[in-house]
Amino acid sequence: MIETICVIGAGTMGSGIAQVAAQSGCYTLLFDINSEVLEKAKIAIQKNLQYLVDKQKITAAEKEMIYSRIRFVNDTNDCVADVVIEAIVEKIAAKVGIFNQLAEVNHSKVIFATNTSSLSVSDIQAEIIHPERVVGMHFFNPAPLMKLVEVVKGNQTSDEAAQTIYDLCKQMNKVPVLCKDAPGFIVNRVARHYYLEAMKLVERGEASFENVDAIMEATGFKMGPFKLMDLIGMDINLAVSQSIYEAFDKAERFTPSPIQMDKVAKGDLGKKTGKGFYQY
Ligand code: NAI
Repeated sequence: MIETICVIGAGTMGSGIAQVAAQSGCYTLLFDINSEVLEKAKIAIQKNLQYLVDKQKITAAEKEMIYSRIRFVNDTNDCVADVVIEAIVEKIAAKVGIFNQLAEVNHSKVIFATNTSSLSVSDIQAEIIHPERVVGMHFFNPAPLMKLVEVVKGNQTSDEAAQTIYDLCKQMNKVPVLCKDAPGFIVNRVARHYYLEAMKLVERGEASFENVDAIMEATGFKMGPFKLMDLIGMDINLAVSQSIYEAFDKAERFTPSPIQMDKVAKGDLGKKTGKGFYQY
């Protein structure tokens, strides 16, 4: 049973993962280098928990109890836990940097879980001091609601570490699925074309993004591809497209779209910046 979790990065995913950890009874630390993001995370978690109270899923007292289990920190020396889950930028060097930094302040059995969407867990662990303790733990957005977690073993991950993360998912009331360390794992590999083909239609003037969303939703998808990209964050979705494209030796079918590049260049990243394909 895991007791203390430290979540690194308090953005879209990190704040949701911290909420999930606290709801599962863990003492939770949430760290970000940006204090504004930490403040936003506090508000988002309070709001999400209040929603659960309003829906009578938890009591007001439970809400307070869950919230009191979270400590918002901005010093890496405070990031001491049984499991560290990183949800920072989708860049290998950044992930390696934070794990190696935290290895110095943590005990020798801490497990490093990465919420990467598309980077190779084997590539991340290759540069880490304790590679056998690195595991992929890929949550979906929004983390408090989505049940699935892809658990990924890199080629140096120990069975014990993978099992600990698998069990932790269950402790968090999630549904873990063991995946190979293949580009995009399962969901992001299959879903890539949901985004890329949709953008191709728009790029070629064959449909408006609003119509693509409306039609896909009418066929039963919960969210159209453009709404979903706004929720994910355009920068993250582009990074995932690029990393899968590179992993497949620049196969034409995975070519990132100029539309997503343009949105990222303009800073229209989606919900998190107030504007993506839609206005928020
Ligand atoms: P985000 O851009 O919303 O948040 C990232 C946060 O990390 C920012 O608040 C930033 O200040 C912080 N950060 C950057 N470098 C840091 C460092 N060295 N130490 C501490 N904090 C640092 O990004 P998001 O969307 O939460 O994605 C994070 C990770 O989760 C990425 O690896 C992404 O691929 C993955 N992911 C994203 C999903 C999504 O739908 N957005 C879904 C599943 C996984």
